[in-house]
Amino acid sequence: MSPFLLTRTLPLDATDAALRADVLSGLTRHPKTLPPKWFYDAHGSDLFEEITRLAEYYPTRAEREILIAHSADIAAASGARTLIELGSGSSEKTRHLLDALPGLHTYVPVDVSESALKGAAEALLAERPGLSVHALIADFTHALDLPDSPGPRLVAFLGGTLGNLLPQERAEFLKSVRARLVPGDSLLLGTDLVKDEATLVAAYDDAAGVTAAFNKNVLTVVDRELGADFQLDDFDHVAVWDPEHEWIEMRLRSRRAQTVKIRELDLEVSFEEGEELRTEVSAKFRKEGVRDELAAAGLRLAQWWTDSAGRFALSLATAD
Ligand code: SAH
Ligand code: TRP
Repeated sequence: MSPFLLTRTLPLDATDAALRADVLSGLTRHPKTLPPKWFYDAHGSDLFEEITRLAEYYPTRAEREILIAHSADIAAASGARTLIELGSGSSEKTRHLLDALPGLHTYVPVDVSESALKGAAEALLAERPGLSVHALIADFTHALDLPDSPGPRLVAFLGGTLGNLLPQERAEFLKSVRARLVPGDSLLLGTDLVKDEATLVAAYDDAAGVTAAFNKNVLTVVDRELGADFQLDDFDHVAVWDPEHEWIEMRLRSRRAQTVKIRELDLEVSFEEGEELRTEVSAKFRKEGVRDELAAAGLRLAQWWTDSAGRFALSLATAD
């Protein structure tokens, strides 16, 4: 197997400091919140992969269907020699794109999850010994130190992960992506679409409870990393559709009045019975909204594809 480069742009102590700051500010405000990137330790990344195979979780299958149908179009339109993928996870669906890009020189998967990145890079290189893979452990909402590699560049942001950012964060994120592109580069964006409430809620509250375990995993991370004493059984997983914001909100609801100790922060956090902690939003989109958000960041929507059932969309945007 050929080696791959793995660069840590998130030093471990910076990760620790960021977790402390996020937990302190998120659990001392009302309503309580925690940012979603802390779901993805090795166990969280494995649980997410399990979610992608659930009958109820349609986005992965819908996005794969579009990639299978249109990777050749994406390759022709982008002419990419470097593929940068933000929040790449297992890079599972990306294989369709990698196979379709004839002139690809370097693949740069970027993720906060070191275990997911290593697993993906090792699997890819076992299948494609000639591919140059430069994996980056980094937070895609911060400035990225991208390797020197030939253009044109295609930045892929799949899985509907854009919807996990709040509107203001999305605007800043898209501007920062635009700032890294030059004319001739492009962005491939996967967005889940607005649809009936029952389908949406089931995708985030599956019968087997895998999503519940994934949601609660953030508490396990805080227990382990910051010496907290959250008991997973004291919280219920909740997924609700917010029709005003057009997003699914994931929450953890305290089953009883309780006080949790977070040793490393020297902090005690009280929950009332039924009090909810927001762990993630997953925004659902419409074509006009995607076009407008891209335009506000200086990106032009050039192509829009959906799966045959119209559940999910892939957009190709250009930096003109
Ligand atoms: N693209 C994959 C995975 C989507 S899950 C797919 O479509 O199936 C979201 C991924 O983004 C996870 O692998 C998670 O570790 C990563 N992630 C979440 N927040 C991140 C952040 N702020 N910076 C970098 N990666 C992040
Ligand atoms: N990007 C995924 C999505 O919004 C992340 C995700 C899927 C998720 N299922 C989840 C996040 C459950 C939290 C809980 O669809």
